[in-house]
Amino acid sequence: MQGIGKILIDEQTLMERISEMGEEISKDYQDKDLVVIGILKGAVMFLADLVKHIKLPLTMDFMAVSSYGRSTHSSGVVRILKDLDEDIEGKDVLIVEDIVDTGLTLNYLADNLLSRNPKSLKICCCLDKPSKRRVPVKVDYVGFTIPDKFVVGYGLDYAEKYRNLSYICVLDDDNIE
Ligand code: IMP
Ligand code: MG
Repeated sequence: MQGIGKILIDEQTLMERISEMGEEISKDYQDKDLVVIGILKGAVMFLADLVKHIKLPLTMDFMAVSSYGRSTHSSGVVRILKDLDEDIEGKDVLIVEDIVDTGLTLNYLADNLLSRNPKSLKICCCLDKPSKRRVPVKVDYVGFTIPDKFVVGYGLDYAEKYRNLSYICVLDDDNIE
């Protein structure tokens, strides 16, 4: 696929950082009851690579939320499209998300999951775009902090496309309808 835009984070850089993050999480969650919650669909690639580096007997669950539709800007409305399969009460929960931008999605998710009484709740994001934050979110593990650009690849989409790229690139303006 050509002409999408400039590569921001290449595959090797992603893999190196994700392996470091996995090591850090492995240390922090020793002797804990870790449940990794992936947020569909964007976090799928990141979660799959990350958990290979978490050397602990964890479980995985998934949630799907929607806040964007076919737009590059947040509508601010978060809807649960798919809820967790299992109860998280008393568990050490780690939310794994692709990117935190305005913070609206994670702010909503954190509140929602906290109301289910987990033992602990932390957030792990592949990318952080702090310049557009509208609500504060405490992200405990951040892969990369990036500038205010719309990015695609490695799970991130524009109108559901480009998720399968093995790297993260900036979407050129001429590809945005
Ligand atoms: P927030 O609620 O604004 O923090 O947005 C979080 C969600 O918006 C992420 O889970 C992504 O699905 C989407 N998003 C935010 N920025 C980008 C981007 O640059 N590329 C693709 N998706 C994005
Ligand atoms: Mg998305």
